[in-house]
Amino acid sequence: MDTQNNPDMEPELPAELQGRVPTLRVIPMLPDSNPNGDIFGGWILSQMDLAGASRAHQYVRGRIVTVGLDAISFHKPVFLGDQVSFYTKVFKTGTTSITIKVESWAMRHTSQKAYEYIKVTEGLYTYVHIDQNRKPAKIHRE
Ligand SMILES: CC(C)(COP(=O)(O)OP(=O)(O)OC[C@H]1O[C@@H](n2cnc3c(N)ncnc32)[C@H](O)[C@@H]1OP(=O)(O)O)[C@@H](O)C(=O)NCCC(=O)NCCS
Repeated sequence: MDTQNNPDMEPELPAELQGRVPTLRVIPMLPDSNPNGDIFGGWILSQMDLAGASRAHQYVRGRIVTVGLDAISFHKPVFLGDQVSFYTKVFKTGTTSITIKVESWAMRHTSQKAYEYIKVTEGLYTYVHIDQNRKPAKIHRE
């Protein structure tokens, strides 16, 4: 079934995204652009951090801070008019840290009835669980 038969469904997703739910979806605006008129990479990194932090917080269920970013790749540009979805998954966990893989996908309107999905960026975001004194604290999972 597609959106023409069920208006609540997502437009047809590529196989890689089927069954996955974005942690965050944002529509970039003009102030998020760079001098070339495309979307500024720093804006994208910041949205990826928000999405990764949301996933990490759900896992840790406590206060976290971003400690490092690794393996960041900008595969394709993001354009004004794209909707950008951020997909996350737990990549690894340590004693006090958790690393989240974040992928950003642009949903681009190509004609009146079609969208294409383009993987635009990906990276690994690491967060540390901290206590009230801002010191690393053990992550506990029941
Ligand atoms: C995060 C912070 C509390 C860590 O304190 P620290 O004394 O350096 O902690 P540690 O060296 O004991 O490392 C804690 C964990 O982080 C991991 N870590 C530290 N630096 C890292 C890096 N650059 N990348 C990935 N992981 C890192 C360690 O491997 C360790 O993981 P583990 O406990 O799962 O084995 C401290 O560095 C800090 O406050 N940084 C500023 C955070 C911040 O302001 N972020 C931006 C706004 S959210």
